[in-house]
Amino acid sequence: MRHAPRSRHSAIPAARGLLRALLLMAAALLALPLHAEDGYDLWLRYRPLPAAQATAYRAQAAQLVLDAATPTRAAARAELLRGLTGMLGKAPALAPQVSSDGAIIAGTAASSPLLARLNLDTRALGPEGYLIRSLRVNGRNATVILANEDIGVLYGAFRLLRMMQTGAPLQKLDLADSPRVKVRLLNHWDNLDGHVERGYAGTSIWDWWKLPDYLDPRYTDYARANASIGINGTVVNNVNANATILTPRYLVKLAALAGSLRPYGIRVYVSARFSAPMEIGGLKTADPLDPAVRAWWRAKADEIYKLIPDFGGLLVKANSEGQPGPQDYKRTHADGANMLAEALGNRGIVMWRAFVYSNENPDDRAKQAYTEFKPLDGKFADNVLVQVKNGPIDFQPREPFSPLFGAMPKTPVMMEFQVTKEYLGFATHLVYLGALFEEVLQTDTFARGAGSTVAKVIDGEFEGHALTGMAGVANIGDDRDWCGSTFNQANWYAYGRLAWNPTQSARDIAADWARMTFSADDSVVKPVVDMMMASREAVVDYMTPLGLHHLMGTGHHYGPMPWDASGARADWKPVYYHRADKDGIGFDRSSKGTNAVGQYAPPVAAKFDDLKQIPDADLLWFHRVAWDYRMRSGRTLWEELVTHYARGIDEVKRMRATWAALAGRIDAERFTKTAAFLGVQQEEAQWWRDASIAYWQSLNGLPLPAGAAPPPQTLDYYKSLSFPLAPGR
Ligand code: GCU
Repeated sequence: MRHAPRSRHSAIPAARGLLRALLLMAAALLALPLHAEDGYDLWLRYRPLPAAQATAYRAQAAQLVLDAATPTRAAARAELLRGLTGMLGKAPALAPQVSSDGAIIAGTAASSPLLARLNLDTRALGPEGYLIRSLRVNGRNATVILANEDIGVLYGAFRLLRMMQTGAPLQKLDLADSPRVKVRLLNHWDNLDGHVERGYAGTSIWDWWKLPDYLDPRYTDYARANASIGINGTVVNNVNANATILTPRYLVKLAALAGSLRPYGIRVYVSARFSAPMEIGGLKTADPLDPAVRAWWRAKADEIYKLIPDFGGLLVKANSEGQPGPQDYKRTHADGANMLAEALGNRGIVMWRAFVYSNENPDDRAKQAYTEFKPLDGKFADNVLVQVKNGPIDFQPREPFSPLFGAMPKTPVMMEFQVTKEYLGFATHLVYLGALFEEVLQTDTFARGAGSTVAKVIDGEFEGHALTGMAGVANIGDDRDWCGSTFNQANWYAYGRLAWNPTQSARDIAADWARMTFSADDSVVKPVVDMMMASREAVVDYMTPLGLHHLMGTGHHYGPMPWDASGARADWKPVYYHRADKDGIGFDRSSKGTNAVGQYAPPVAAKFDDLKQIPDADLLWFHRVAWDYRMRSGRTLWEELVTHYARGIDEVKRMRATWAALAGRIDAERFTKTAAFLGVQQEEAQWWRDASIAYWQSLNGLPLPAGAAPPPQTLDYYKSLSFPLAPGR
């Protein structure tokens, strides 16, 4: 309002001064960019660095020698300008040649005579790697970013920016990096109508309705964020696929989207519905051995490549949870995958998912993927990868690694992690998945003797596979902060960094993320990282300790429902997984039970099979034991279980206190949101504990250990809670 009535205080000089000060403060606040810290910028915030640091870095970033002759080099240049200007308060001078100290020279030897003259050996970098070196160029001090391809220049640019964001010294640089995994993808479980299956961050960022005419600027920011962590592809639609994505109208939309991601090295991929030849092709069958079906897929592939020459390929969920597949025609998974592989030829890849379990009452769902896929090793075409979830069931807070890792040496087996927290408290619970990913990747499969970690299986080190891959089920939606919470951004970040190099440390990655996301000040970074690293064990403790799994409400996957025995399929019911009664609890997968342990390499099998050797963390996954079974701690199993629930809740309380102590050190919007979410998490951790204990007690009739509080409500109360409108279904 321009002509607001004068304040009744305005006649009083002192009050007028105060008012002026307040107005100045308000004006200062308004002068900040809108949405100052709403999380949109992710870890690419590029906020002004502390003065001393900015001064030091400015001396190393006086000039930028990088042409913008290709879209990717233009993107690298724009990012460096944006980052340096934001952090240092001053743009480097763009120059065609080095003319002062402190130049950043970036490019490929092929495109820059200046860089070519340096004669640096880049053979080990491959197509996506880069080196960053402090060198004398034309008699001046310079920082060189050199790569074989433009995309390496972009990755190198992001790396240099990250070094500044995290406060690393820029003198005497001599580093080289290249990805250890070739195909590094996000899998979006996004439906074409905008709904995201198991998505808790709003609706899909892909606006199919407005494509191809309107390219949301978010696509570019999405591409920037992904390129900054090395992700090089995106499967745009849900594995429960709709064939419409393969119709001409949608392929044109897809081509437009591909165009906006391409400068950032991101290829598009599609989840293919196996029955598409029938649904959109008018054929009577989708039998992979039928010549008409094969011809249809070949023609479809040609149509796609005409529009999108660098189309990445197809992801397929077949004969799983009601999806069509080759088994509908008594063909194998290999028959189905190879048909598609042939249609794509050397232009693209097929990622065939091993997430299968049959509809008939199985003796053990955990065994099914191995049982079906292991015999197919060696039967897949060269451009097929088998995509395997990290554990044998389904993204539980903790699972042992899938026995397929290491069991199919003739096939590139790619990792599928879930970045969205379907079973880990949706958007609100703070759970750093870097710790989960690292645990899986560092586990020894013993497939080729000691040291055969899952990481080495999937990065191809063992079998010499040239084609290697990792996929992460995205947690991205159109929420302003992309992921539904600030800390969920760390999971996207950590996933990308680990896909680039699966041997990295989750703690180091968390530290980088915290520095970039909040502050490079150690007094902020340390507590944040400690909290993140403890958060994964906390969720295991309050939801499913000691190897328990799949105890959540069927359907919505939110909250405890261990009593649930309803539902169409045995293997969708929590009671199937815990098998608790008055005598004991746990799933006997030992050699005396379903022998799921037998699917692992002998040293691993022996460890899992033996009660004396099995880690507590996996106990009830592999064994059924009595409630009074004596644990290593000296406590009975029942006491141990109750202790773990309490430990989980205590950790969340600690996380809350840690966060509260950071008040004033983190911007208000992100601080408040996180604080509120931690409150939700504490309440829900308590709910998991109370409901679980109430149910276990109804079976075992045991008193609680001394000092443990009884659940405040009756079991009937917990059973009465229902969530028909929970998101993400
Ligand atoms: C889980 C999830 C489903 C998803 C499936 C899959 O079961 O709940 O929504 O479709 O995994 O990975 O295919």
